[in-house]
Amino acid sequence: MNPERGCFIVLEGVEGAGKTTQIPRLAAWISSLGRTVITTVEPGGTAIGRQIRAVLLDPANTAMSATTELLLYNAARAQHVSEVILPALESGVFVVCDRYSDSTMAYQGYARGLDRDMIGALDGISTGGLKPDLTIILDLPVEAGRERNVSAGKSDRLELESAAFHERVRAGFHELAAQSEHAVMVSADGTPDEVHERIKHAVSERLCL
Ligand code: TMP
Repeated sequence: MNPERGCFIVLEGVEGAGKTTQIPRLAAWISSLGRTVITTVEPGGTAIGRQIRAVLLDPANTAMSATTELLLYNAARAQHVSEVILPALESGVFVVCDRYSDSTMAYQGYARGLDRDMIGALDGISTGGLKPDLTIILDLPVEAGRERNVSAGKSDRLELESAAFHERVRAGFHELAAQSEHAVMVSADGTPDEVHERIKHAVSERLCL
């Protein structure tokens, strides 16, 4: 790793796994270690990405094909990498990102059933080959995550997919964690404090902070 460059950390996981709670806490901890850090989100970390996100998650868009969905997530990512992530990393800033390429593989690949080699090739175009230094996959049984989302009043187009769809997403994340050198699975069960401690442990084990 280039010492001048920031580290790129991604949090992934099934719906309701707690990324939104954990990301600011992780960033605050990294900042307390004297590093400059930004947090960002996919899709949505740019003005263009937020417009794409609105189209992707609108429950009224029931006609959207799986390929359209895949291309929109990748379009948002291409903009995000070039406008936000790469410039930050190159100026030495740490980036903590809510979802990235592994979400596309889990949702559009494992759950929607699109060809995974094709998704990988497209990802190379969208990211220019930029991979996270570390991906933390927050793992939780699908039903527990859905219960958290229902109590938070969330119901967008993807969250409205069947339980079987979300089980395939979770199984996909398990496979990705097993195959990948940059990904680690962390249990999202327990209190926010307990999960935060697990995340800090995973980060400090793998990145020289
Ligand atoms: P969020 O609810 O975690 O903000 O993510 C938005 C939704 O988009 C979530 O249901 C996961 C889904 N998603 C994909 O299907 N593919 C992707 O590539 C990304 C980044 C998210």
